[in-house]
Amino acid sequence: MESAAALPEGLFFDLISAKEVDTVYELEAKSFPPEEAATIEKLRYRQENAPELFLGAFVPHTGGGRALLGYVNGVLSSEATLTSESMSTHVLGAHTVLIHGVCVASDSRRRGIASALLAEYQRRLEAAGSYERALLIAHEDKLGFYERFGFKSRGLSNISFAGVTWLELEWTVPVEVDRSGSAPHTILPGLLESLQGRSNPQLQGQLLSAFTNGILDVSETEGDRTINRYDLLCVNDVVGVLSLGEG
Ligand SMILES: CC(C)(COP(=O)(O)OP(=O)(O)OC[C@H]1O[C@@H](n2cnc3c(N)ncnc32)[C@H](O)[C@@H]1OP(=O)(O)O)[C@@H](O)C(=O)NCCC(=O)NCCS
Repeated sequence: MESAAALPEGLFFDLISAKEVDTVYELEAKSFPPEEAATIEKLRYRQENAPELFLGAFVPHTGGGRALLGYVNGVLSSEATLTSESMSTHVLGAHTVLIHGVCVASDSRRRGIASALLAEYQRRLEAAGSYERALLIAHEDKLGFYERFGFKSRGLSNISFAGVTWLELEWTVPVEVDRSGSAPHTILPGLLESLQGRSNPQLQGQLLSAFTNGILDVSETEGDRTINRYDLLCVNDVVGVLSLGEG
């Protein structure tokens, strides 16, 4: 029986930077058959257009910096199902995340890295508060793996890709999406001014809704922790969160 290996020490998650795309491509090319592997151009497109959906699993590098052990990436689509076209474009502001693939370096597999990475990815999608669902296509032998994360099979995908059949899987993001655009957050008159004056007159308060990527823009990952980049204040569930300057 296979002995259980622990997650690598110091494992942490962070967005893939533009200069790390070449390393992603090396892993991609080694991990997928040539007809399934994304080209470097496609990976660059995803990182440039949807950087918030390109998440890496890293360990601190012995010589400084960080070593990439795995990644997951995606784009946004306004369609409710996966098509070849929707998979190759990113629709800004759309609510369906198309996940292009989860990948872990071959010498780091079966240690729970993909599981931890996918769980962190889902946590971030949920926290962003603007996504409705995540879709991906997978071979049938991966169904059990994704089912553990709440993905459900929608049956055979319409996509015939790399000459084989694929299952389309869906995970419904467990948040209520407000796309009405007609109910801007309101705060009590004078509340913001009074809060700013109390802490520091130079600080600028902003509503969370003013940030393009919501919670992702006001937090960042440091090691295995997510920290706030600003002082955050939750006034009530209607107002949401106020940012009162750099934290
Ligand atoms: C699929 C893939 C991402 C899984 O990565 P991973 O880090 O090995 O995944 P995990 O360790 O989280 O779990 C994978 C399996 O290892 C098992 N596992 C997890 N921790 C383990 C441990 N400590 N010891 C032994 N097995 C373990 C899990 O139960 C799981 O088993 P199952 O999928 O056979 O049911 C990786 O194999 C890969 O990159 N493959 C090539 C690319 C690919 O096919 N990606 C998926 C596209 S849909």
